[in-house]
Amino acid sequence: MKAVIINEFGGPEVLKIEEIACPVPAPDEILVKIYASGVNPVDWVIRNGVDEHLRTYLTVPLTLGWDAAGIVESTGSEVTSLKKGDEVYGIPNFPGNGSYAEYCVAKASQFAFKPKSLNYNESASVPLAALTAWTGLFEYGKLQSGQCVVVQGASGGVGGFAVQLAKAKGAYVIGIASTANLQYLLDLGADEVIDYTTQKFQDLVRHADLFLEASPIRNNKERIKSLNTLKDNGIFVSVNTDYAFDDEFLNEIRERKLTAELSPNQPRQDWLTQIANLIDSKQVNTYINKVFPLTHVAQAHLESESWHVRGKLVLEIRKEELLSK
Ligand SMILES: NC(=O)c1ccc[n+]([C@@H]2O[C@H](COP(=O)([O-])OP(=O)(O)OC[C@H]3O[C@@H](n4cnc5c(N)ncnc54)[C@H](OP(=O)(O)O)[C@@H]3O)[C@@H](O)[C@H]2O)c1
Repeated sequence: MKAVIINEFGGPEVLKIEEIACPVPAPDEILVKIYASGVNPVDWVIRNGVDEHLRTYLTVPLTLGWDAAGIVESTGSEVTSLKKGDEVYGIPNFPGNGSYAEYCVAKASQFAFKPKSLNYNESASVPLAALTAWTGLFEYGKLQSGQCVVVQGASGGVGGFAVQLAKAKGAYVIGIASTANLQYLLDLGADEVIDYTTQKFQDLVRHADLFLEASPIRNNKERIKSLNTLKDNGIFVSVNTDYAFDDEFLNEIRERKLTAELSPNQPRQDWLTQIANLIDSKQVNTYINKVFPLTHVAQAHLESESWHVRGKLVLEIRKEELLSK
């Protein structure tokens, strides 16, 4: 099968399209014939070799990509939740070979039926970003209907889903983005928007229940500023699990009687199903910024590395109109 692999860590030039063996699913896994793969920052962070510690968990050659939509090709002997021919979306095994390929394997529990109202390119843009938003808002952030959440990085992949999922839950949403993306946030459903290039959100918001750091900012002093937005017992959640809270930040958390959580995304089938239902009932949508053919994967990485992509980037692995052939 065709796959984008890296044989070494480095810049976009290490991305190679090669023929490799098709993976075989373990008893609890499915083999997915992939039609499209989402592109996420983690792809190029890993391509670059992350840091020395995390690199010990990775082996090259490695197929990147942890966001897929396609059709179940076969199932392991223990899989009962999905069967051959099901149209699915989800997250390939991590660490392990990913979705920049014609096929991938994954635990069946990491995939679910894709939204019926989305095509494969659209479906592939959803799982990682939406699950990250879901985990941050509801699992670690405990967001409830009627509460107020501030979403930083609200125009990005994770942030855009966070705005919509929080609104679908019945929360009041304040989105933070740059000037050009403010109308986009309002279109997503944000109740209020703040332009971080001209305004200081830490002076404008008080008494929020939850602050969701879904931006690429990795700076504990900036995190401390965001605590001003929270009410007593408020929760600060960061999806940037690779950047730990430092002692100064944790002291502030203690003194202000707040809670702080680092939120790794959880690739759960039941949440993917709920997200698909929200999409099919038009409460949540995906915004595709650009679709690239596999041959343009390096271009997709360069765009993602800008940290200013509105919505999602997608790699098209197979043309959907060929589906019936
Ligand atoms: N925990 C997990 O499992 C997990 C999973 C996925 C992602 N992540 C992390 O989540 C973060 C967001 O990922 P993503 O996929 O949503 O990235 P993305 O699609 O590239 O979006 C990044 C967004 O951040 C905004 N931004 C850039 N610089 C900013 C700044 N100085 N202040 C405020 N906002 C800024 C941009 O908005 P403007 O263009 O308007 O500035 C952009 O829309 C990343 O740090 C990523 O590593 C974690």
